[in-house]
Amino acid sequence: MPASQLPRLHTHRPYECGRLLHGPLRRSDELHDLVQEVVRESAASQGAMTENLFALLPDTLAFLDGLLSRTAPDLIVEFGSGQSTKTFANWAALNRKRVISVEHDRQWLESIERELSPDERRVLTMLHAPLRLRWHGLRQFLTYESLHQITYEVQRADFFLLDGPHVSGREDVLYFVLCNCRADALVVIDDLRLGPIGEMLETLPRSLAECFAVEVVDENSHGLAVLRCLRQPVLSGPPTLSMRSVLRSYWRCLLDYRRYGTGD
Ligand SMILES: C[S@@+](CC[C@H](N)C(=O)[O-])C[C@H]1O[C@@H](n2cnc3c(N)ncnc32)[C@H](O)[C@@H]1O
Repeated sequence: MPASQLPRLHTHRPYECGRLLHGPLRRSDELHDLVQEVVRESAASQGAMTENLFALLPDTLAFLDGLLSRTAPDLIVEFGSGQSTKTFANWAALNRKRVISVEHDRQWLESIERELSPDERRVLTMLHAPLRLRWHGLRQFLTYESLHQITYEVQRADFFLLDGPHVSGREDVLYFVLCNCRADALVVIDDLRLGPIGEMLETLPRSLAECFAVEVVDENSHGLAVLRCLRQPVLSGPPTLSMRSVLRSYWRCLLDYRRYGTGD
C-alpha cells in the first residue's frame, strides 16, 4: 500500500503536530533538508499493512530506513521493540553496525527475537527491562527498570527511536535520552499525534530544548518528531506543571498498568 493511502492514527483529540514548531525547540536548515528529503524518497515505498495495532506502519519503517542510509549511525538505541527492531537489525547486519533494543514485555521480546536471522541477532542486543514506578518530584511514571544501566551506551549512540513504553513511561525515557545523548545524535519520537507525546515535547525546559533542533513529519501515519542534538545537553527532569499534571501522571500509570501490566 502506498504511504499516502495509509491510515492516520491517533486522531481522537489529537495533538496538532505543527504546534511543536512554535514551542521552545528550534528548527535548523540541516535537519529540515535531511528529513524532508527522506520523507520525499520514502513516500514512494510500498509495504504490507500489519494486523498488529501497536506496530509501526510501512511509511515509518521506510522513513527510518531512509534516515539510516543517509546518516549511517554506528550505534542505534530503540525503546519499544517490534517491526522497527527488524528494520534496524537488518540494516545493521548489512552495514556492520550495532543495535540495542529495550523492551519491557518478555514474551513480546522473545517473539521478535525468534523472527530474526542469525546475522541480525549477532548485531542486536535485546534488553528486557520490565516496568517499574519512578518519581520525578511529585509526578509518577511507569517506566523501564534500571535504565541507568545503559547510560554509557546512550551517551555513545548516534541514533534513537523512542516508541516505548506506553504513555506513562515515555516522558521518563525522553528525559533520559535527551539529557544523556551526544551532540549530533538523531532522536526519532513516534506517536507525536498523541496528546501526551506532543505535550511532553512542548513543555521541555527551555535550557534543555535549546540543545536540540526539531523537525515534524505531520503526514506520517502516527506523527513523528525528529530531534537533532546541537550541543551537549543540560541535566533536567520532567517538570511538574500543575496539580492536574501530577494527578494525571498517577492516572496514566494506573491505566497502563491495568491494560498492559509490567511485562515481567
Ligand atoms: C508502539 S509499540 C512498539 C512498536 C515497535 N517499535 C514497532 O516498530 O513495532 C509499544 C509496545 O507495544 C507492545 N507490543 C507491540 N506489539 C505487540 C503485540 N503484538 N502484542 C503485545 N504487545 C505488543 C510492546 O511491548 C512494545 O514495546
